[in-house]
Amino acid sequence: MITIGVTGGIAAYKVIDVASALKKLGYEIQVVMTKNSTEFAAPLAFATITGKPVITDMTDGDGEVLHIEIAKKSKIILIAPATANIIAKLRAGIADDFLTTMVLATKGTVVLAPAMNSNMYTNPVVQENISVLKSRGYLVIEPDSGVLACGDVGVGKLPDAVKITAYIKDLNDKPAVDQDLLGKKYLITAGRTVEAIDPMRYLSNYSTGKMGYALAEMAKDRGAEVILVSGPTNLTPPAGVTVVEVISARDMYKAVHENYTDVDVVIKAAAVADFRPKEVQAEKIKKGDDKLVLELVKNPDILKSLGDTKKNQILVGFAAESQNVIENATEKLKSKNLDIIVANNIKEEGAGFSADTNIATIIERDGTVSFIPKMSKKELANIILDKTKRGR
Ligand code: PMT
Repeated sequence: MITIGVTGGIAAYKVIDVASALKKLGYEIQVVMTKNSTEFAAPLAFATITGKPVITDMTDGDGEVLHIEIAKKSKIILIAPATANIIAKLRAGIADDFLTTMVLATKGTVVLAPAMNSNMYTNPVVQENISVLKSRGYLVIEPDSGVLACGDVGVGKLPDAVKITAYIKDLNDKPAVDQDLLGKKYLITAGRTVEAIDPMRYLSNYSTGKMGYALAEMAKDRGAEVILVSGPTNLTPPAGVTVVEVISARDMYKAVHENYTDVDVVIKAAAVADFRPKEVQAEKIKKGDDKLVLELVKNPDILKSLGDTKKNQILVGFAAESQNVIENATEKLKSKNLDIIVANNIKEEGAGFSADTNIATIIERDGTVSFIPKMSKKELANIILDKTKRGR
């Protein structure tokens, strides 16, 4: 069963469409509303759509211990809109109404869809509460940006019903996966970095982020807490993963080091630009002469810097090679003090950049070499994750 918890925000009325769409997909839906939310949306509307009475009060249920019963039956509890108040209460473990007591008692997956004024949403207290809840396994559907009900413009809008419904459907329909990475924290990088030349031009590469996102999704599905440091991509981040968006190699260096100390495993699938223009021109470079010489300087080698300061983390690098794959990758494994390196020949059909598949050679610190035939990036991700469990 999917339970929808509605809390007291102006976006409450939009959740009627979510309940309706999920019901049409054939799911059993139970709606629980806080007292305040009934001022914004009518319980009768939800009851009519779901075909079930809406629960609004601890005393609902004819003497049954209904909050425990619903908590046990709920595979997913979606709280939408999730106000700053409910987020704070859940973080603190307050149980003073039906919704909060039910959430405390559930073993189901709790998904929050925060919606509020942007100043409230970006307030460090709210952000800290959300990040603590994420670290406890709560999933968060990030709010959209735009004109808010109060007239302000900014982040804090409840995403549209189609987006929320798709998220819940994906989550519900996913097959159960062995939680063998539970309690482990993974830092994964994905995509390309972008190095500005002038206001309209940049240096970059062909990485789409597919390999890194596949790793993040599979690690999350297997129970790990995942931080995904991502360069610009067109991909939707996997549910439940904390995403840090970066542009340049130096941004990525900073984001990776800020998160390095307390992670168990780092996997660097990103394609980092080795060089950047020495100076970023403030104005668009004019055509001028027939020739343009760009002076480039080296970017920091992020992976090497992690290898140099490694404590107990398991470090996995990728190697994009076009020749002498094993020799070059082995040299990178040693020089960057890695535990595992995943080499892909970017000239092979169905391997490397942008494809949904990859072909890899995995080399481990003890010299073990595994040749992985063409398979989906998600399947390869699982093989890599298996190897990170073995340690050094
Ligand atoms: O994103 P996709 O389209 O799915 O493509 C996937 C991929 C081809 C990008 C991926 O499979 C891959 O090979 N990623 C690594 C690409 C790369 O930068 O390789 P490299 O051999 O240049 O670097 C070796 C390792 O050092 C990599 O883990 C890289 O993240 C890291 N590195 C490189 C340079 C640098 N300045 N800092 C780094 O951390």
